[in-house]
Amino acid sequence: MYVCLCKGITDGQIRDAVHQGCDSLRDLRRELGVASQCGKCARQAREEIRSARAEA
Ligand code: FES
Repeated sequence: MYVCLCKGITDGQIRDAVHQGCDSLRDLRRELGVASQCGKCARQAREEIRSARAEA
């Protein structure tokens, strides 16, 4: 499922990034570009970070 349409980033990519050490929306933005354009995905991206952490 796409979380960030502007950058074409999926929930799976976010999960992988979190498992590899991305710990915040800022990290995700730096690594993947998530939330670097319209910003609409920020809330969903935070949710994904939270659930990925929970399963790590
Ligand atoms: Fe992620 Fe627009 S959907 S920046």
